[in-house]
Amino acid sequence: MKKLFTMNELNVTEIEGILHEAEGFANGSSWHPKLQTMVANLFFEPSTRTKSSFEMAERKLGLEVIPFDAGTSSILKGETLYDTVKTLEAIGVNALIIRHEQDHYFDELKEKIRIPIINAGDGCGNHPTQSLLDLLTIKQEFDSFKGLKIAIIGDVRHSRVAKSNAEALTRLGAEVVFSGPPEWFDGEKGLGRYQDIDEAIATSDVVMLLRIQHERHSEKYNHANGDYLERFGLTKKREKNMKQDAIIMHPAPINRGVEIDSDLVECSRSRIFKQMENGVFIRMAVLKNVLEQTEGGMNHENCDQK
Ligand code: CP
Repeated sequence: MKKLFTMNELNVTEIEGILHEAEGFANGSSWHPKLQTMVANLFFEPSTRTKSSFEMAERKLGLEVIPFDAGTSSILKGETLYDTVKTLEAIGVNALIIRHEQDHYFDELKEKIRIPIINAGDGCGNHPTQSLLDLLTIKQEFDSFKGLKIAIIGDVRHSRVAKSNAEALTRLGAEVVFSGPPEWFDGEKGLGRYQDIDEAIATSDVVMLLRIQHERHSEKYNHANGDYLERFGLTKKREKNMKQDAIIMHPAPINRGVEIDSDLVECSRSRIFKQMENGVFIRMAVLKNVLEQTEGGMNHENCDQK
């Protein structure tokens, strides 16, 4: 794997390989590049989890992190994304992590930039490392994806997490259904049918809530009167109807009391903070994979001892 822009670039064997390596890192395995390896995290949209967990993963792998702050960069003088990326390549950065508000921002980069790029989220398009950490969390719980039913609920249209997860989970043998406001569901390329919220929650093994992405809405959804939670969210009453071993997931950030009752965020069914913990191990595995495939990553040594 020389880069990672979308989940559909990875076949099932490659997905399983990354999950296996991430589990190894979670169990204490280590890997470090033999050569000095520089990376930069280019975040043009806000982030807490993805940016911090990439930085944590990079430091655990012994990579050197070149600081980049979009708010003080020459982007503000009109420099393009392409010229910014080309500049970082020219000064010797070995790999880039990029989050950008434009869907498929990477299309203009992939043929012209030689160093690996890992997509940390493109607009409403893709979020492959979030999907991989979600898959790891589901695998830890159920061991296999085959026969599982996953309900993805909320602002599906604007969610890159929903699209990356639905695509990967379907290929891995799970059934995906969507719920939430019907006007926020476009059919999602046939990756799953729409289901009534109560039925979706009561019959699924994984209930995955999504944040309302106000920043991507032309008109703000009016939930000021608090009816969103009752109509489309995970209430305590709906949680009581979940299957006995079903789990709750959410990519976060969470709007507590909107898509999920605040008291359920840390309840015994919730794997929300486990997802965040797994994010570090998945990003270590993805970084290891791309660096091993590049010239700058040659002669990396395997330090599999604890
Ligand atoms: N889940 C996720 O992408 O969170 P951040 O926006 O905080 O990175």
